[in-house]
Amino acid sequence: MKRIVPSETSNRDLHQYLLAMVAPRPIALVSTVSNDFVPNLAPFSFFNIFSSNPPIAVFSANRRVTDGTKKDTLLNIEQNKELVINVVNASIVHQMSLTSVEFGHSINEFEKAGFTSIASEKVKPFRIKESPAQMECKLKEIIPLGNHPGAGHLIICDIELIHLSEEVIDEQKGRIDPNKIKLVGRMGRSYYNHAYGQSIETIYQAILKPVIGFDLLPHWLKQSALSMKEVSLLAGVSSLPTKSDIEQHKKKAKTVNQEQAEKQVKRLLELQKNKKALGFAFAYQIEKQA
Ligand SMILES: Cc1cc2nc3c(=O)[nH]c(=O)nc-3n(C[C@H](O)[C@H](O)[C@H](O)COP(=O)(O)O)c2cc1C
Repeated sequence: MKRIVPSETSNRDLHQYLLAMVAPRPIALVSTVSNDFVPNLAPFSFFNIFSSNPPIAVFSANRRVTDGTKKDTLLNIEQNKELVINVVNASIVHQMSLTSVEFGHSINEFEKAGFTSIASEKVKPFRIKESPAQMECKLKEIIPLGNHPGAGHLIICDIELIHLSEEVIDEQKGRIDPNKIKLVGRMGRSYYNHAYGQSIETIYQAILKPVIGFDLLPHWLKQSALSMKEVSLLAGVSSLPTKSDIEQHKKKAKTVNQEQAEKQVKRLLELQKNKKALGFAFAYQIEKQA
């Protein structure tokens, strides 16, 4: 493993390692207004929600790497204590990119990036009509993280009101459909990723039920040709098979070699019969030892 000691690494390199390592990150396209009512937009991917009750969003506006000055977004929030966080999806990601350019303070970035500004209800900054979800926020606290160029400011905000496009909601479930909202994430350098379609993997894990875990699995599974995903599915079964669960597989387990046993486990997993697959794996272990 490469060892990276932050205090012995240049800011530039450290920045790139961290950005590429902690990724993909959601993007907040933050709308603010200056004291003289000039609208401002800028993207921030040091961003997330940190609480849903109360609903809190946090992002970090770093000091400019060039001269250590504060960015316009931060200055506007310090003055007016209000903002709108617009989420970024595939249809607006290229326009979003335009708003990261350092425009002069008096330039309206909605116009530069071709976005439509719409009035908010609870705060002065505008929302972006083209964004599928917009959060009207009020400043709770700013925590400065340092005075050097690149140092962040944690901007902690109360989410006061959410506007969500009906078009991104799954009608049957009443929840946001990732294949409709089509969010985009930021990775290292100039890489972005699309959080929909083939990049979505569904993993069901009941968090309130116990799991047996890797340590209680029959040993042969760990040296088998089964994938880590398949072995994890077995480790995720909530209880060890009973004697009769195992008994029903004994006849088959007696007649197979390891390759065939692996095939049988795979087949049962494909049929989503995880508990049966585990029962068979135990039956095979017992036969193997006999
Ligand atoms: C996708 C993306 C994510 C970004 N994330 C951040 C971030 O988390 N923090 C930050 O300080 N700058 C970030 N930037 C750079 C700012 O958007 C850029 O400095 C912008 O010009 C600041 O505008 P402002 O001076 O109007 O606030 C990001 C840029 C892009 C394209």
